[in-house]
Amino acid sequence: MRNINEDTITQAVLAVMSGCRDNRLRTVMTGLIQHLHSFAREVKLTEDEWRYAIDFLTRVGHITDDRRQEFVLLSDTLGLSMLVTTQNNRKASECTEATVLGPFFVNDAPSYENGQDISNGARGLPCFVTGHVRGISGEPVAGAEIDVWQSDEDGYYDVQNVAQPDAEVEFQARGRLHTLPGGGFHFRSILPEAYPIPHDGPVGQMLDALGRHPWRPAHLHFWIKAPGYEPLITHLFRNGDQYLDSDAVFAVRSSLVVDWIRHEPGIAPDGTPMNEPYYTLDYDFVLQHSASAQ
Ligand code: BEZ
Ligand code: FE
Repeated sequence: MRNINEDTITQAVLAVMSGCRDNRLRTVMTGLIQHLHSFAREVKLTEDEWRYAIDFLTRVGHITDDRRQEFVLLSDTLGLSMLVTTQNNRKASECTEATVLGPFFVNDAPSYENGQDISNGARGLPCFVTGHVRGISGEPVAGAEIDVWQSDEDGYYDVQNVAQPDAEVEFQARGRLHTLPGGGFHFRSILPEAYPIPHDGPVGQMLDALGRHPWRPAHLHFWIKAPGYEPLITHLFRNGDQYLDSDAVFAVRSSLVVDWIRHEPGIAPDGTPMNEPYYTLDYDFVLQHSASAQ
């Protein structure tokens, strides 16, 4: 293999992978190499630009740690996350649509009973959330595990630990609960607010250079799991938010835009006397049966 030129380099790289015994890996890498080479040819990538790209990816790696996932932000802001989510979650139109997971999900969030307050001191106007989890025929899904997580009134997640960056993370405004026998669930939390995705790193510089903003419309994340059904990762977006049509990560679906209803001080749905305004949100999720259960 000598004297490879710009016309033969792609075939040469593909040829040395012919011994790969993992068919899927070969398929994925073949596509990646073909498209990467086509891209470099199409834009006539310069050496300076190539060096810049290597440096950019190096910086993405350096800023990434247990709490900051710059590669996820890069994938999200390039639309790759939403593309992968969408093409892997095709389902009946009655089912609740999926969106990106994002970088702020945390395993093993605290468990709550229905009716409890998951905010755990996170700041924001109170919000009472109710809903059901159902299957496509309307059957209640009892015992479904629901993970919820959200930002506070300043647009920060607990894991961002803005006040004390080095402190141990305390779980706030996130939790796990299970649906009741009729498929219902209810909990208290706070009103989510719009926030900019972390933009003090290379992805923020990229957005800036491209004339893009880093904002996401206010939303509440859900990850719902139940035996016999496909897991659902999604979020609900606050109707009226100014960023619904320019979400930095392209994740808004009309079917997920919901009214958070504002109430003046009074008695909350769970009987709690409220001396400040509060919100209510109600939404029913519809799960797709898993392929193995059909
Ligand atoms: C989120 O909604 O938590 C999120 C999603 C993508 C990028 C940044 C944040
Ligand atoms: Fe979020």
